[in-house]
Amino acid sequence: MDVKSVGVIGAGQMGNGIAHVLAAAEYEVLLNDVSQDALDSAIATITGNLARQVSRGKITDEAMQAALGRISTTLELPQLGQTDLVIEAATEREAIKQAIFEDLQPHLLPHTILTSNTSSISITRLASRTDRPERFMGFHFMNPVPVMQLVELIRGIATDEETYKSCKTVVDRLGKTAASAEDFPAFIVNRILMPMINEAVYTLYEGVGSVQSIDQSMKLGANHPMGPLELADFIGLDTCLAIMNVLHDGLADTKYRPCPLLTKYVEAGWLGRKTERGFYDYRGEVPVPTR
Ligand code: CAA
Repeated sequence: MDVKSVGVIGAGQMGNGIAHVLAAAEYEVLLNDVSQDALDSAIATITGNLARQVSRGKITDEAMQAALGRISTTLELPQLGQTDLVIEAATEREAIKQAIFEDLQPHLLPHTILTSNTSSISITRLASRTDRPERFMGFHFMNPVPVMQLVELIRGIATDEETYKSCKTVVDRLGKTAASAEDFPAFIVNRILMPMINEAVYTLYEGVGSVQSIDQSMKLGANHPMGPLELADFIGLDTCLAIMNVLHDGLADTKYRPCPLLTKYVEAGWLGRKTERGFYDYRGEVPVPTR
């Protein structure tokens, strides 16, 4: 199927990046959220990110204006039923995602493909509660979406080949690279990345290193672009904890036990950059370690 229009649900960190790259690749985008403020700030973020690409000579001003012209916003979820492909990027809670798909279902065109940008929830389970498990799959972008090259494509048990091919064509047109993953807890990237981040938190918890020395070690000793604690703040500590819990519950192996210190930060509401405090305090000029 030739996808021309895409509905994006959720205008947060991931949703606005997804709308940005789709519009830049000449898809018509309908961006939905429950809050007008979230939609307004998503458009402001996309405009800022496109403007930076113009100022660095990566795209022209005309391309920026054309991309912005391809993004419409709506508070009405049913309107997304008229698109060819829906990418759900709402809050990472299964009950919320399930309710969104239930509300959208009566308004869908027969051919519409449903996908979720979930980082760890079972695609097969989400799909089984819709009327089209064969046209349902995982479409997982990495953060920051405009910069990161990878998209994980996750087939549920029932996903058909045509759906996979349609989604792969979209990834190709975005100029990104698709990695095919099976539907097991946290797929590929987070299955490997989150235990490393969790281990970095244990390393801090046990006093093996400070925030600074742990991050410095992995940046200079393993050539990671960000240290694991800096990266955890960037992703969101609540998201990191949620993914560790999915691994722990789904694979029933104690090696995925979330570090109690990670839980403690989340209990404090210190969720990383988005709340201006996590393993670093971002309220001043430069980030300052909180331990
Ligand atoms: N949105 C859009 N563009 C951004 C951006 C953002 N949030 N942050 C940086 N950029 C752009 C910059 O504009 C710059 O673009 P140009 O090349 O056109 O100049 C480019 O990215 C590089 O930025 P900087 O030079 O400012 O900074 P940097 O070199 O330190 O790179 C980084 C920043 C790309 C974020 C880099 O630190 C990095 O790769 N970090 C690791 C990111 C990562 O691991 N992401 C995956 C997280 S896991 C995930 O997403 C899965 C999940 O489910 C949790």
